[in-house]
Amino acid sequence: MIKNWSSILEAPILRTELPGPKSRELIEIQDKLETASRSYTKFFRIALDKGIGSTVVDVDGNVFIDWFGGVSVMNLGHGNPVVIEAIKKQLDKMSHITEIPTEARIEFLKTLNSTLPNGMRNRSKVLFTVTGGDACEAAVSLAKYQSKKNTIISFSGSYHGVAGGIVNATANNHYRQYAGFENSSFFHVPYPYSYRFPWKVPKDDISKSVVEYVEYLIRDNYSGISPVGGILVEPIQGEGGYIVPPDDFLPMLREVSDKFSIPLIIDEVQSGVGRTGKIWAIDHYGVKPDIMCISKSIGGGIPVSAVVYREDYDNIPQAFHLGTYRGNPLGLAAGSAVLNYLKESGILDRVKNKGEYLKKRFGDMENGNEMIGEVRGKGFMIGIELDSDKNKTPGTAEASALRDKMFRKGLLMHTCGHYSNVMRFMAPLNIEDQLIERGIEIFEDSIRNVRDKK
Ligand SMILES: Cc1ncc(COP(=O)(O)O)c(C=O)c1O
Repeated sequence: MIKNWSSILEAPILRTELPGPKSRELIEIQDKLETASRSYTKFFRIALDKGIGSTVVDVDGNVFIDWFGGVSVMNLGHGNPVVIEAIKKQLDKMSHITEIPTEARIEFLKTLNSTLPNGMRNRSKVLFTVTGGDACEAAVSLAKYQSKKNTIISFSGSYHGVAGGIVNATANNHYRQYAGFENSSFFHVPYPYSYRFPWKVPKDDISKSVVEYVEYLIRDNYSGISPVGGILVEPIQGEGGYIVPPDDFLPMLREVSDKFSIPLIIDEVQSGVGRTGKIWAIDHYGVKPDIMCISKSIGGGIPVSAVVYREDYDNIPQAFHLGTYRGNPLGLAAGSAVLNYLKESGILDRVKNKGEYLKKRFGDMENGNEMIGEVRGKGFMIGIELDSDKNKTPGTAEASALRDKMFRKGLLMHTCGHYSNVMRFMAPLNIEDQLIERGIEIFEDSIRNVRDKK
């Protein structure tokens, strides 16, 4: 951990009711001026002043432990000096330029290349985008361009963003030719989510059943879908419920992609950048992506995303997919700092070890608590799936009550999952031991409260 920099170790510190008076003032204005479609402000009703490490301070001086990290973006914590220094240095030089190289851009390209999965290193090209959704969209367009086929197989429970479609309003036919797709371009198949798998097959055969179905869809002209031009998959599902597939799933998917020469797109937007104890989650499985999407934590809090793809796919036309703000120099400077830190600090070993410890702690709570259905994850991507009863009825209301209870005790933790019934641990990777322990105490105490109230 970096010297002389830490979270507020006494957290949580609650000085007012929630929301406090200053938060209430700001929230009132936000409610009046900003869209009612916001979600997170409904879960955590506070206005924030600052973030320090794995803690955030609201405008009334309340200090929260942050297991939320702006939805898995602050992997190195808020205000990490390594990241802040890199951003400040770049800010003095230039904060925006489109595509023309800066030292920050070149440094990022080299650093990113040095971290890529085996087989991609020194053999890939990078197309910058801005958000995760933007990256996934460019990736799909690229897969379709390479395969000259239209349908993309994606998975139940997947989340790849909500960007898209606007290219259809852009008049220049050139852009519409490559980007944008119809709803029918996607066909969802079950993700190997063993806790709630829809088909009645033995647990050990789940990957096989999914991949054989994928193969059937591709191979059989009468399967009912248009020719398949790509497979888009999260190596560990994020919004779908922090679902770790069986070890054989991704290698089998790779085999099918190879067999039919269909690009395999690995979406690392949430699982990447050290979250699972390796820089890329796909590295756990020894699978080489044809195309990889990265975003969220890569910019250390500045919006950056990119599509990394095998170099023989670089036959695409000029202006294949583009945007003014792509490859922001501040984000790229931050990105190099983030990746170098992951490579050099030894933090990934800590994430692996602490992740196992955390799973055990949450797992121990499972005994004797029928609300906890399953604890799963890799590294600091841990899901705790809640049920309402012994019949696995999803514990949606329980998860929502638990999130609120923990918030009121000073811990920010969010949900995910098909039924919003999975609590997800996505704290910064360098969160101090004290804040892990205190968070666990709050979690345990709160889940007991929720259960006792039932
Ligand atoms: C796996 C994955 N892909 C894509 C996205 C979309 O990213 P963004 O919200 O930046 O568009 C997300 C967002 O949570 C994600 O988890």
